[in-house]
Amino acid sequence: MKAAVSFVSLAWLSLVPTEFVLAASSPPTHSTCSPPGLRPAPGQLCSLEEGPEFAYDDSLWTHDVQCFYTTSNQESKLCLYTDANFKFGRGISIFTRPSIAANITGQYKFRHPEQLPEFLSPPAQPPYEQVELPGRGVGLFANRTIQRGEVIFVDTSVILLAREAQSSLPRSTIKKILWRALEQLPEPTQDMVFNLHRQTGGDAMADIMQTNGLGQVIGDGIRHLAIVPDAARINHDCRPNAYYRFDDKTMELSIIALRDIKSGEELTFTYIDPELPRDERRERLQKSWGFECSCSLCGASGDVVVGSDNRLELIKNTRKQMVEAASKPFELINHLEKLIDLYDQEGLHASKPRFYEIAAYTYSQLGDDKRALEHGKLAVEYWSAIAGKGSGEARRMREFVKDPKSHPSWRSA
Ligand SMILES: *[C@@H]1O[C@H](CO)[C@@H](O)[C@H](O)[C@H]1NC(C)=O
Ligand SMILES: *[C@@H]1O[C@H](CO)[C@@H](O)[C@H](O)[C@H]1NC(C)=O
Repeated sequence: MKAAVSFVSLAWLSLVPTEFVLAASSPPTHSTCSPPGLRPAPGQLCSLEEGPEFAYDDSLWTHDVQCFYTTSNQESKLCLYTDANFKFGRGISIFTRPSIAANITGQYKFRHPEQLPEFLSPPAQPPYEQVELPGRGVGLFANRTIQRGEVIFVDTSVILLAREAQSSLPRSTIKKILWRALEQLPEPTQDMVFNLHRQTGGDAMADIMQTNGLGQVIGDGIRHLAIVPDAARINHDCRPNAYYRFDDKTMELSIIALRDIKSGEELTFTYIDPELPRDERRERLQKSWGFECSCSLCGASGDVVVGSDNRLELIKNTRKQMVEAASKPFELINHLEKLIDLYDQEGLHASKPRFYEIAAYTYSQLGDDKRALEHGKLAVEYWSAIAGKGSGEARRMREFVKDPKSHPSWRSA
């Protein structure tokens, strides 16, 4: 089984869920902003003279680019870029590293949104209604049955803020930037943003960002917070029925059903790692989002919470045992089946695709083509929803299910 072992472990390594990938630490880049030996104070305005590494075309932006020195040891400045025409006049403001802006302007799709087929099709009738919730702002509720895997809607970010701004610039500067980011957008978009729910008090834009910002990764793992006006209406649930996927080529967010959703059900996704125990989830939500977790599981009776926390502990242990059993397919497959069952019981569907995939390879190693195919098909379905139909993961599994017997893992145990 030699070859296949490394194959399985490789697959395992590449399957770390993207939503938990933290900012990669790239080597410090040469500062093109601060004069040699003289470093201006963080938050101080600076001009945009670019070094060759950030050579990019700034004709895309409709407003002057504004840059600020930071205390970051990565890139020494962050700049505000606005394209008020983006997506047929909806507009977008991005506060980020010059290298990220260069990356974005280098994206053909960003420069020519009209070439994207999805931009041309008229907006479909959304399968949800917006409903006022006392004390919780609004929520989105399905108004017809939504099938598992269905793209519920697609929305585009209008404000993006690099997370590192929060640790490398004074608060007062960030507030200024957020207001500027808003003001540079067309008026209807400004209204859309300004009408979003607020709950922390204090500066309105800082509040809107904290209350509604969704995590999105651009380029090489650089984390951003994004205001996506319709998606921002979706409330948190620790056992969500929907999932969001960000495409950094189009700045679009797709909301996908993780399971069948009945008409009348509220659409939800999770704002945090849902595999944390209840108390930690509560603490995280309070700390990062400023609200008391009131989802059905956080508010459930003691028994239910204990049952769920126990399952989460089992999930953690099973995953550890799987790593140890990586070269023992008979053992591994038992752990995998148990794990998938636990995820089903717990309603944590977004975690499943990589384990369906590993199970498919493991059944293939064991020469069980029927089960390999069955799990392979589930992996195709879930990867298509979670990572996208065109993702490497979905393509890899579509290839696998064509003929599991021709895969290198086949009968390699
Ligand atoms: C943008 O970043 C991605 C990820 O690092 C990279 O693969 C891509 O080549 C970059 N594109 C441009 C135009 O710089
Ligand atoms: C659901 O609500 C949307 C408005 O958000 C409406 O356009 C759509 O027609 C409704 N669908 C059904 C089946 O009632």
